[in-house]
Formats: sequence, C-alpha cells, structure tokens
Amino acid sequence: CNAHSLVDIHRLNKCFHQSLIWQNVQNFQARPDDILIATYPKAGTTWVSQILDLLYFGQTERQKTIPIFERVPFLEIAVPPLFSGKDLADKLPTTPRLIKTHFPIQFVPKSFWEQNCKVIVYVARNAKDNMVSFFHFDRMNIAHPEPGDWSNYIHRFMEGKMVFGSWYDHVNGWWKKKQTYSNIHYMFYEDMIEDTEREIDKLCSFLSLSNSAEEKKMIAGGVQFDKMKKDEMTNYSTFSILDFKISPFMRKGKVGDWKNHFTVAQNEVFDEDYKEKMKDPTLQFRTEI
Ligand code: PPS
Repeated sequence: CNAHSLVDIHRLNKCFHQSLIWQNVQNFQARPDDILIATYPKAGTTWVSQILDLLYFGQTERQKTIPIFERVPFLEIAVPPLFSGKDLADKLPTTPRLIKTHFPIQFVPKSFWEQNCKVIVYVARNAKDNMVSFFHFDRMNIAHPEPGDWSNYIHRFMEGKMVFGSWYDHVNGWWKKKQTYSNIHYMFYEDMIEDTEREIDKLCSFLSLSNSAEEKKMIAGGVQFDKMKKDEMTNYSTFSILDFKISPFMRKGKVGDWKNHFTVAQNEVFDEDYKEKMKDPTLQFRTEI
C-alpha cells in the first residue's frame, strides 16, 4: 500500500466497520467463473448488473421477484449482524455468480487474481456526472454522512476524500490493470447511453455469449432508464437505508447533468485540476454526447 491507499483503507474501514469484516471480505474465495462487476460508486453498476443478469439467466421469475442487490451482492457491504454482502455472495446459487464491488484495484480480494477469474466488467463514468450522482446519493442514503454543501463536496471529490477513495485513482488503476490482465472489459456509461445495444453486443463478444440478436435488442429495450426506474426489483425502492423523499436512486440517468450543478468558476477549477490528475492520453471520458 502506498500512503494514499492507507487513507483509503482508513476511510473504508470507518464505513464498513471493523477490520474483522475487512479481513473477512479480503479472504473471499472467488471462483474462476465468477463475474465481478467493478465500478466507482454511481457509475452505472445497477444498469450493467441487470444487463448481465438478463444475458446469463434470461428473462425469468428471477428478475420479477429478487431485487438486484440480492441477485448481484455488493461484496464489501456489511451491516452486522443484519447484512453481509460477502455472505450473500458465498450463498449465491447461480453459476456464474454475479458480484458487485466498488473496490479500487488494490483492494480486490486476491483470490480473484489467483483464480484467474475469467471476467471482470469495469464501468466508468465521467467524473462530473459521477460526482453529481454521488452527491445526491449521499443526501438520500441515511447510512452515509451528510454530503455538506455542493462547493465543499467538489473539493472533497477532487481531493479523493470519498468512501472509496479518489475517482481519478480508481478509473486509472483499473485502466492500467486492464493493460496486463486481459480478462477486464472496460466500459463507459456514456457509451451505454449513446447506444445500449452496441455496448451489449461488445459485452457479449467479450463474454463469448451467443445470445441472439433479437434477445440482445429486447434486453437493450428492457433496461432503458424509465423501465428500470419503474421496476421495484431494480430501482432500490425496497432497500431500507435510502430515503426516496430526498432523492430517488434512479435519479436522471443522463450524460451532462453536471451542467445543472457546476458554476462556470467551479467548472474552471475542476478542469484545471483534472488535467493535472488525468495524464494518460489513452483514457478519455466524454462529459457530453
Ligand atoms: S451504485 O449505488 O453505486 O450501485 O449506483 P450505480 O448503479 O452505479 O449508479 C446509479 C446511477 O446510474 C443511473 N442508472 C441508469 N442510467 C441510465 N440508464 C439506466 N438504465 C440506469 N440505471 C441506473 C442512475 O440513475 C444513477 O445516476 P444519476 O445520474 O444519479 O441518475
């Protein structure tokens, strides 16, 4: 761990409780056919989870009766003694198991690498929209500390003082890993908004899935924002720690909502800082489409 990682570990531990839980999660036993869905929070996890669930298991009672957060457990979440994502993942009856994580690359339990997991799907979203979405999520999630005012939030985000650490380190860390570990499929939220069907096609090629063109088209139609927002099994309305009176989980589902939040001055400061932190020319994000 470098010094920055230690800051992350401290923050993660604070939120996800004692080191016992930390160790428990770190000792998670992956299987070679597990599908890990990794994201910085609010980058499109739920969307890709639903797509993968449909691609692997087809449209069945499963999607009508089991909320997405049980079909695709969040590995590191732990609210003892009520809830443990790791236990849920251990007990998943499906093959493959779909498992969600927000860990930056350095905290992924080592057995995923040891088992040479065939598939890791990473979803990234442009920093500005990602932050806006996170801000509203922090407001409505009663288990999270209050986000404070927007202008302080921007600075906290830029400094990486967030529960899963720096967005910049997260997207770059996974991008770098992808260069040496070919089992990572790196996707962008903006591409999915632009053409969901095309991105599902690419995902299927990567996964060597042979779903028919008709099926892929149907899935792309079925996972559009308005449909997932209405669907109780995907919209998190049954997840008790969220206060929908403050903000919905499925909030806007757009590229470019940041323009309704940043002032011109805030945007300039953010862009300057962004240039300093995002030096890799091969990793490019779109803030509008
Ligand atoms: S979490 O809590 O980290 O798992 O959240 P996550 O699912 O990663 O991100 C939530 C944001 O993704 C948007 N979303 C979608 N956008 C477009 N289409 C579909 N189907 C869709 N499903 C979820 C969701 O609305 C959140 O973004 P914002 O900008 O807040 O609306």
